[in-house]
Amino acid sequence: MTERAEIDNIDKAREAEILKAEHELVWPSPEIRTNAWVTDYEALYKQSLDHPERFWAEQALALDWYKPWDKVLDESEKPFYKWFVGAHTNIVQNALDRHLHTHRRNKLALIWEGEPGDTRTFSYHALAREVAKFASVLRSMGVKRGDRVTIYMGRVPELVIAMLATAKLGAVHSVVYGGFSTEALADRIEDAQSRVLVTADGGYMRGKIVNLKQTADEAVQRSGYVEHVVVVKRTGHAVAMESGRDYWWHDLMNLPIASPRIETEILDAEHPLFILYTSGTTGRPKGILHTHGGYQVHVATTLRWVFDIKDEDRYWCAADPGWITGHSYIVYGPLILGATSFMYEGAPNFPYPNRWWQLIERYSLNILYTAPTAIRGLMRFGESWPQRYDLSSLRLLGTVGEPINPEAWRWYHRVIGQGRCPIMDTWWQTETGGFMIAPVPSVALKPGSATRPLPGIVVDVVTEDGKSCGPNEDGLLVVKRPWPGMLRTVYRDPDRFVEQYWSKFKDRGWYLTGDSARKDDDGYLWVIGRIDDVIKVAGYRLGTAEVESALVSHQAIAEAAVIGVPDDVKGSVIHAFCILRAGVQTPTEDDVKAHVRKEMGAIAVPSKITFVPSLPKTRSGKIMRRVLKARALGQPEGDVSTLET
Ligand code: PRX
Repeated sequence: MTERAEIDNIDKAREAEILKAEHELVWPSPEIRTNAWVTDYEALYKQSLDHPERFWAEQALALDWYKPWDKVLDESEKPFYKWFVGAHTNIVQNALDRHLHTHRRNKLALIWEGEPGDTRTFSYHALAREVAKFASVLRSMGVKRGDRVTIYMGRVPELVIAMLATAKLGAVHSVVYGGFSTEALADRIEDAQSRVLVTADGGYMRGKIVNLKQTADEAVQRSGYVEHVVVVKRTGHAVAMESGRDYWWHDLMNLPIASPRIETEILDAEHPLFILYTSGTTGRPKGILHTHGGYQVHVATTLRWVFDIKDEDRYWCAADPGWITGHSYIVYGPLILGATSFMYEGAPNFPYPNRWWQLIERYSLNILYTAPTAIRGLMRFGESWPQRYDLSSLRLLGTVGEPINPEAWRWYHRVIGQGRCPIMDTWWQTETGGFMIAPVPSVALKPGSATRPLPGIVVDVVTEDGKSCGPNEDGLLVVKRPWPGMLRTVYRDPDRFVEQYWSKFKDRGWYLTGDSARKDDDGYLWVIGRIDDVIKVAGYRLGTAEVESALVSHQAIAEAAVIGVPDDVKGSVIHAFCILRAGVQTPTEDDVKAHVRKEMGAIAVPSKITFVPSLPKTRSGKIMRRVLKARALGQPEGDVSTLET
């Protein structure tokens, strides 16, 4: 049995649901359709196919450039594509500076609420001022063009400010999700070779304080690159500060060096903007590299098309800025469009499952964009929680991160959207930078399908040897043409970039997404799941190798293999199989879980740990995870002819 067939096996339940939902067309209301930014999807798509470069150039003209491009797309060194070649720009010029000369100067850019209920707001003017001041602070620490700055925080405004300040200087941010722990952070600092780390004393999550500074200290010690640590005071609990290395954010921002008068650096369009680490098939996380020019065009254009943001809207993307969704659609996309974004620090169900609905009513939010796992989690608490709140401000809903099951889609549509709000199911990846397959609010939706590719994006479902699959035939999801928001490389590992994404269909120049999908009779796409060793837990992307490495760093564990098994709320959860070292006492499951939590973070903790005497391996020594999976799910093991006996 091949890896593909394995996925088919696991996803039987999803398949049955898809078959039902395939014929269920849900149209947005006439009012939403006629007022949408894109009213004729087919025409725009056709236009983008006929003249791809002219099409993207037209979109790029909506932004400011210090100097226009000489060439829209340079394919001469493919797959190292370049966009808007010769142009000079800085994403901060588009996200902040240009708004200061318009009516948006005093418009709210960011409304924030902390988990304990404290609130802060920033106008475009105020945000730009904080960003400039922090850029001055970073510069005083010697940060210059191309230097990497690692940012490790909870969902607080300083995270956004630190990202933008780094970009303003032409330095490169590497945000590490605040839910990650020591080893994960240390690995990322080391790979990026960051001299500066921006963190916080802690963060609030479900009523508890997450001890970010302590984790940061341990990671800094392990990685050995960091010279300066800037610490935001969020919780006020006592933390150790190392003299000469650690500085409080608020102290620095009150010094005369924190000048709001600092110019935004003028950069080449292909100048690196950020690295974001994500999991791949093997080994350590990859540093996905994005650049200023193409990325800004892609995120701003797609956000406008899909979420149809109007000047008066209040938009809430409930993701974490530490993931690509937050980078593109909390920070850069909305700010470039001059929108008002809302950000919330805590969890959806703390202290009660009313928290999100209360926030929507309190701030009169118009758009909510979240992940299927959050929807399924809130669904469990029943309809009475949202029904107590006035959700009439909502106009559009969105989802991202994993396939949404039609049942959760319908609940989201009926209970939260009150049948009035269309759901934008957006398929994309850290690597793609922005939305790739998603509806615009003027097309018919199908519950559980991200619908069709956006204009300018050419995707297909193909067989292993590159033939287009027929309707309803499962295959590999590929992107057939370059797009402006595409990753430029894997940081410090260009070979891996070529190998991982471009080698499978080398002659054709197609990008391999790593997902399997199918197209239905209407050309709607249904993403099935990953075809590699990536597990999506509650929408978070984890590589089996990373979790296994955290497990074997436990003193009692000699070898480990992890698999994803289906879960009603989280999509998948991790099941770990571990071989003990000879002569050690069997640790408790809780002890191993605590170890993984400390090394990797809570999201990587297996929900089940089984100690086994051996693992199924091929004769060449590769662990056969599909056999473990089949055993865990009580399914047939399939072809085990390569199994070592
Ligand atoms: O498997 C697909 C799934 O998430 C993967 C990308 O993960 P990441 O880089 O963490 O980015 C997540 C946020 C953009 C994809 O390869 N995925 C993402 N969105 C969807 C999805 N699967 C189905 N439907 C989606 N809307």
